Amino acid sequence: MRVSATQTRTTDRLILEPIGLEHADDVWTIHQDPVIAEWYGGAWLKQDASAFCERCAWAWVHDGACKWIAYERHSGELVGRGGLSRLPPDSDQMRSIAALVADPAWAKDRLELGWALLSAFRGRGLATEIGQEGLRFAVEVLGADRVISFTERHNRASRGVMERLEMRLRGEIRTVGLIEGDHSTIHTDAPFAVYATE
Ligand SMILES: CC(C)(COP(=O)(O)OP(=O)(O)OC[C@H]1O[C@@H](n2cnc3c(N)ncnc32)[C@H](O)[C@@H]1OP(=O)(O)O)[C@@H](O)C(=O)NCCC(=O)NCCS
Repeated sequence: MRVSATQTRTTDRLILEPIGLEHADDVWTIHQDPVIAEWYGGAWLKQDASAFCERCAWAWVHDGACKWIAYERHSGELVGRGGLSRLPPDSDQMRSIAALVADPAWAKDRLELGWALLSAFRGRGLATEIGQEGLRFAVEVLGADRVISFTERHNRASRGVMERLEMRLRGEIRTVGLIEGDHSTIHTDAPFAVYATE
């Protein structure tokens, strides 16, 4: 298997490229954005960005899906990143989400959707546009029935994207992340809201 042309997508306003090692500098730039850094464990080092790109490159080949990097279609400007990935099969996080979703087909596919936009590109529906393409890719390319998305309970901007995508709140899990009012510590039992497509 290899990365295929169908894995690069074009939407109304964006070009979405499967993240690979060639995107390490742009991924690093995305993770210097203060709001993104706040939700993803601090500003990434170059080596964090490279390791993430390496994992994505592997997953695009072996899982048939992973995150895209997003560029504005007309200007070519870096916008952010997002899209699907498959949750690791044997993790507490996966078990907790599977119990909430209660769908063996989802437990087989393990597809999760996410997004992060540079500040200049927020407030225009671009994360929702990435999410819509992720859902289309899940159904049309991967043949999946259901996709989930999850975020810290108090990440209202991310929950807003899930709601605009008409995903439904399924409940909460506790996993590694942030607690409202204390973003200086990563907690092992932070409350996360879990949404799923119908
Ligand atoms: C989460 C995040 C991607 C959401 O970005 P966003 O810009 O709020 O979401 P969208 O791009 O879908 O834009 C929606 C906003 O644009 C508005 N909008 C304008 N044109 C729109 C359109 N064509 N379609 C949809 N919304 C549109 C919506 O009304 C909404 O505005 P509001 O927040 O005032 O209600 C962003 O806050 C972010 O990068 N956060 C840091 C990283 C992060 O937390 N990621 C999630 C980790 S789980």
